[in-house]
Amino acid sequence: MRQIVFLLVSFLSVTVSMAQTPSAMQHIAIETRRTALVIRVDKDQNPTIVHLGQRLSRPEEYARIPENGKRGEDYTGLYNSVYTPAGSRNLLEPAIQVTHADGNPSLDLRYVRHESKPAGEGVELTTVSLKDPQYPFEVTLYFKAYQNEDVIEQWSTIRHTEKKAVTLHKYASANLYIPAQNYYLTHFHGDWASEMNPTEEPLTEGIKVLDTKLGTRADLFQPPSFLVALNQPAQENQGEVVAGTLAWSGNYQIAFEVDPLHNLRFMAGINPYASAYTLAPGKEFTTPAFLFTYSNTGKGTASRNLHRWARKFRIPQGEGNRLTLLNNWEATYFDFNEEKLSALFKDGKKLGVDLFLLDDGWFGNKYPRNNDRAGLGDWQENVKKLPHGLGYLVKEAETAGIRFGIWLEPEMVSPKSELYEKHPDWVLKLPNRQEYYFRNQLVLDLSNPKVQDFVYGVVDGVMSKNPTLGYIKWDCNAVIYNAFSATNPNPSHVYVEYVQGLYKVLERLRAKYPTLPMMLCSGGGGRVDYGALRYFTEFWPSDNTDGMERIFIQWNYSYFFPSIATCNHVTDWGKQPIKFRTDVAMMGKLGYDIVVSKLDEKELQFSQEALKTYDRIKNVVWQGDMFRLASPYEWDVASLIYVSEPRDRAVWFTYLTKSRYKAGSVAPIRLQGLDPAKNYTVRELNVYPGLTSRLNNDTTVYSGNYLMTVGFNPNVDASRTSVVLELTAAN
Ligand code: GLA
Repeated sequence: MRQIVFLLVSFLSVTVSMAQTPSAMQHIAIETRRTALVIRVDKDQNPTIVHLGQRLSRPEEYARIPENGKRGEDYTGLYNSVYTPAGSRNLLEPAIQVTHADGNPSLDLRYVRHESKPAGEGVELTTVSLKDPQYPFEVTLYFKAYQNEDVIEQWSTIRHTEKKAVTLHKYASANLYIPAQNYYLTHFHGDWASEMNPTEEPLTEGIKVLDTKLGTRADLFQPPSFLVALNQPAQENQGEVVAGTLAWSGNYQIAFEVDPLHNLRFMAGINPYASAYTLAPGKEFTTPAFLFTYSNTGKGTASRNLHRWARKFRIPQGEGNRLTLLNNWEATYFDFNEEKLSALFKDGKKLGVDLFLLDDGWFGNKYPRNNDRAGLGDWQENVKKLPHGLGYLVKEAETAGIRFGIWLEPEMVSPKSELYEKHPDWVLKLPNRQEYYFRNQLVLDLSNPKVQDFVYGVVDGVMSKNPTLGYIKWDCNAVIYNAFSATNPNPSHVYVEYVQGLYKVLERLRAKYPTLPMMLCSGGGGRVDYGALRYFTEFWPSDNTDGMERIFIQWNYSYFFPSIATCNHVTDWGKQPIKFRTDVAMMGKLGYDIVVSKLDEKELQFSQEALKTYDRIKNVVWQGDMFRLASPYEWDVASLIYVSEPRDRAVWFTYLTKSRYKAGSVAPIRLQGLDPAKNYTVRELNVYPGLTSRLNNDTTVYSGNYLMTVGFNPNVDASRTSVVLELTAAN
């Protein structure tokens, strides 16, 4: 009988010893309140994953886990490697592939040491160091375990002290392993104005890859966020689900491989496509972070975990305030002047929003930005439209009683611009190829530090001249074609260093303007990921603002992103009544992009009251726990509720999403998240002027137990296409 030592990293760090193990093994348990990721190190120092799932109550029992649930022979011992190295004995998809300085194309990684330490309140950081026994080549795996949120953030660093540079061909952020009977992957796909369409499919033997090669945007075609359900398709409130998302705004690859033993391995990280990275001796490469949460109570819990984590740890002021706004994009497009804008400021004030957001079209003189074919890069006020400059507008808005914000797209350049004429070498393009445009524009080379300074200077310049400017909408409307930098000595670093350059700029801006609200936009929702959301208070999910479309788009973002960061604007794109469009926009961060002067009296009154109501309930929507009650993919309605942490307040949205005869909420909908012992009153919000809600004369008090067991019918049908209810605990 041999003794082994457990090194456990957890809420309660425990060290125990145990007998009856086949060999001297170590177990490193990365634990949150409910979840554990357990790494086993065998006597030869091979690190493998033996558990990813619910945390065991007796940590010493991790040693009992049989060889990772393998159903047959693993010819390499590496199928469940914690970071699969390529070129030695591996037979499956690797996490890392390198060519050493001497040309040797193989890698072996053995455990050297690990440590864990607190990294802030409720956060435990574990580092596991691995090394090639033959080369001075090291990988360190980092695992940040957010205890109360049940989220694990994982990334790696790679360094070596070989005589010359080493080429990294693939360098994943994470490599995970889960055995189950069946695997169901939910991934999302889209394009401009139709972002985030879900597809659920069983994973079978072989490899399924989610990726992007668009350079500037991870989200447009195939977002870097997914759900994997184990054994059965993902359900809202039951079953095992892993929700994962890569915090990287550029090319990424997530590969799911059902291995020869029917176990699931997955690798997430930067896309190796055209991105071989030359790593000099003594330098360190840090991968982006992969974030995941495991739930055995369905995808609802997984979403709430990510929301809580994002609010508390990732999104700037995630637990703070946001500004309601009136945007002029759909109202004026490029056609405005000072007079028109001053009138819009007054309209914004009349409506009751906090801020006016001036969109595209305010800049460029030699090549005025009067359409999307010119001017990007020339960030000087257009003297015809704005003869008195931005400062004047800021003051005009403030005099009208609202704050002023502005649209910028600082990473981009129009071929027709002074910037392009002056600095053609700042533009990503191939010298011997015809220029190819996305929305008539090109992308600046953010891998060049001079360009980083320029982009920083664009934003800093606007802010320094207008210190009370209250908001920035940061857009990114093009992908990278002909990816080539005139100045970067490593052509295959361009994709990676573009994103690193962008983050460096944002880092500098955030250091100087830590509280400035900034919207992450990318031709709609082209760029929605937790890499960029470290710097942005909110994101633009889609240019498609049709109320019906938005229910689906917002629903799908809600799997990963919290409502406080999801900008929803009431616009004229959809032809539904303004009440419907407003009710839809309220399940997130509310804004407007309408011509206020065209609203009739009742529409204006409704909107003014809705903004006041929003002000009263916004904290429940932003900070509450969200429960998806009825899916528009399965029901005639979409229904979601936000419940405050003390469970004394809730706001419940239900929308009609089908148009068949008798479509509606034909039966009560069971609520979730309430306190069964509390008594709640139910009031209808956003009642249209001139109408009365039957409910609001009803003084019945319902227990949380009743509402969650029997449910309540919001009576949504063709005559009441959207209903917002507020639940307040009576005692
Ligand atoms: C993108 C954005 C829009 C708007 C336009 C301006 O398409 O998604 O909201 O800002 O650019 O050109």
